[in-house]
Amino acid sequence: MRNKVSIIGAGMTGATTAHWLAEREIADLVLVDIVDGMPQGKALDLQESLPIIGKDVVVNGANTFEATAGSDIVVITAGLPRKPGMSRDDLLSANAEIVGNATKESLKYSPEAIFIVLTNPLDTMAYLTMKVGDLPPERVIGQAGILDSARMRAFVAMELGVSVENIHCYVLGGHGDDMVPLIRHSNVAGVSLADMLPSNRLDAIVERTRKGGGEIVSLLKTGSAFYAPGAAVAQMVEAILKDKNLIVPAAAYMQGEYGLKDIFFGVPVQLGRQGVVKIIEYQLNDQEQAALNKSAEAVNQTVAALKSLVKF
Ligand code: APR
Repeated sequence: MRNKVSIIGAGMTGATTAHWLAEREIADLVLVDIVDGMPQGKALDLQESLPIIGKDVVVNGANTFEATAGSDIVVITAGLPRKPGMSRDDLLSANAEIVGNATKESLKYSPEAIFIVLTNPLDTMAYLTMKVGDLPPERVIGQAGILDSARMRAFVAMELGVSVENIHCYVLGGHGDDMVPLIRHSNVAGVSLADMLPSNRLDAIVERTRKGGGEIVSLLKTGSAFYAPGAAVAQMVEAILKDKNLIVPAAAYMQGEYGLKDIFFGVPVQLGRQGVVKIIEYQLNDQEQAALNKSAEAVNQTVAALKSLVKF
């Protein structure tokens, strides 16, 4: 039986996610968007590229959810992206309605699907998906940590001139400016990052990582990042479909881990066929835990704003 992945929202992130996924040849794909003809056109264009790269997957586009029936994974990227000067939280009310609706409609046709949420504000939208869909926590995962960590890895690689494959970085916390790039847990081919770079360079990398999404927004001016977010989703989808038990940073539902409860938050998670198999708890020092608590407070504020908008 072939795997099936549906992507709700066929804009920049959704279509790019489909592109990365088609290259991995791991599932048939469905793109859903409200814009007439757009998901069908992008799906057909992608389908027509596959003879060139030698990949056999079926790609369909649709304006309604029937075509998503029987999906193993639903990726939600529908919603508004940031414009310059906007925070991710500024998107809350518009995107809450879109994500809530996408969750309900998807579940009608794929009641067993695992949900990967990208729409911002990310941690709060993942929370909304779990609540609106009445889903078990292991079946909802927010994509942010792989992206934020990849940004940090890219900056370290640029600085050191070392292969990105040797660089392992872990960014935890909410997907906002208070995210927590963990220096102590990051390394270059096994050597602690703190031993590879002076503290002023490390501080600059941490700061650039935290503001990494905003840096792209201010360059693009009309939207937000899509290549790296799409690649991050493709890695998560593959880990789930192949039951790899891959440990990556991602937003998962906290039930006491890291001292946090009832929020989605970026932590190392083990991804397998059931979704979140396990949450990995790092030993944190007081400073690291305080930074996570500050980030959690920011997520909690957005969740409180969500609860004033939507009844679960
Ligand atoms: N159902 C399906 N698609 C929808 C709906 C809906 N109810 N509402 C909006 N969309 C579609 C839009 O038509 C658009 O094509 O969602 C798509 C969003 O695409 P872009 O505007 O290109 O935005 P993108 O850069 O992909 O970002 C989408 O992901 O990373 C996050 O912050 C980002 O929240 C934003 C989301």
